[in-house]
Amino acid sequence: MSQKGPRGPWPQATEAALDEVIVAHAGGEGAGALLPILHALQARFGHVPDGSVPRIAQALNISRAEVHGVITFYHDFRAQPPGRQVLRLCRSEACLAMGAEGIAQDVRDRLGLAWGETSADGAVTLEPVYCLGLCACAPAAMLDTRPLGRVGSDALLAALAQGATGDDGEATP
Ligand code: FES
Repeated sequence: MSQKGPRGPWPQATEAALDEVIVAHAGGEGAGALLPILHALQARFGHVPDGSVPRIAQALNISRAEVHGVITFYHDFRAQPPGRQVLRLCRSEACLAMGAEGIAQDVRDRLGLAWGETSADGAVTLEPVYCLGLCACAPAAMLDTRPLGRVGSDALLAALAQGATGDDGEATP
């Protein structure tokens, strides 16, 4: 069974579907195409499926270890499909200086989630991010594709609740 994404169920990562994405972004052999392929896989399936690793390695003529190393190096790539909403909290300097650590702790406690976890009902995934380019509005967060600035934990949970009901209102700083 496929897990539900923000716009309905994520498509099944069949071998044919994986190959379609890999071939479309390979552009010849070599590691240069690796990041575009990984981003394309995650955009399509919500994560980088395990089964894609040997197929990418073969397509680019690089080792499986190289592929795996890049996937694990970048925080953006997920091994599992995310929840229906993805809340990213900035963990970089400007946001930390504005209290992001305490906010993150409160949000983690209230959602009962550790970094990278998805709630049991599949509603939300909580992820760390390292600078959203919103430093002037620290502490900052991103809810799916929506940037949120000068947030507190109450505003973040309110934004999640609004998103869950389809209300696209802005979070109150
Ligand atoms: S440090 Fe948080 S947005 Fe830049």
